[in-house]
Amino acid sequence: MIRKFIKHITHPFFKFLTESYFSKTRNYSYKGITVKVVPSVFPPHHTISTKILLDYIAHLDLKNKTFLELGCGSGIISLFAASKGAIVTASDINKKALKALDTAAEANNLLVKTTYSDLFEALDVAPFDWIIINPPYYPKTPKSMKEKAWFCGADFEYFKKAFQQVSKRNDASILMILSQDCNIEKINNIATMHHLKLTSVFEKKVLAEKNYIFKIETNAK
Ligand SMILES: C[S@@+](CC[C@H](N)C(=O)[O-])C[C@H]1O[C@@H](n2cnc3c(N)ncnc32)[C@H](O)[C@@H]1O
Repeated sequence: MIRKFIKHITHPFFKFLTESYFSKTRNYSYKGITVKVVPSVFPPHHTISTKILLDYIAHLDLKNKTFLELGCGSGIISLFAASKGAIVTASDINKKALKALDTAAEANNLLVKTTYSDLFEALDVAPFDWIIINPPYYPKTPKSMKEKAWFCGADFEYFKKAFQQVSKRNDASILMILSQDCNIEKINNIATMHHLKLTSVFEKKVLAEKNYIFKIETNAK
């Protein structure tokens, strides 16, 4: 589905339609929480990964747990976690996303600490109970902030840096969603190089596309 979507968005007509649709701020809602998705921020509407993560964390006991959404985009996952009682940090390299999330947190009367950070660089070293990651995974060099939501670098630089940082941390549970549409084998190899292992804890097929939620653990665990 995402492969088809990417193919479609590269088609000039579809690209025009999609870009003009998302050139305006669009609302996205989940269980009574609404965010305004501003242009240049990852739109959760057309992809299924955000929704799968939302449905997955709906079953977690997050009360008083520290929770990081690394690369929060619209922040709908962060706000939902906060509504379940988690102590939430939402980080991103997209400042427009963080600003919009501050506004959405206020509008929904929820508490989320937003932090500008390139991966874990500016984040607290103290371990989080939960970390949720919906990463960019198409191997291409991003040319704009908008593209950073989709492309992980021609040589998977996002994963190389993220796994290197994760291997030095001591967080309790780190979950990352990946699609069969991306190069899971390559991403798994990068994890192994950093002495990490990816274990699938959930999978869901929507139309023709399978998505997996992986738990990232150190090999020693
Ligand atoms: C696929 S989107 C997911 C957004 C949101 N978590 C969701 O599920 O809807 C990936 C997000 O990661 C952010 N991102 C990309 N590279 C990053 C980096 N090096 N550090 C922090 N965030 C990054 C993008 O700006 C984007 O918001």
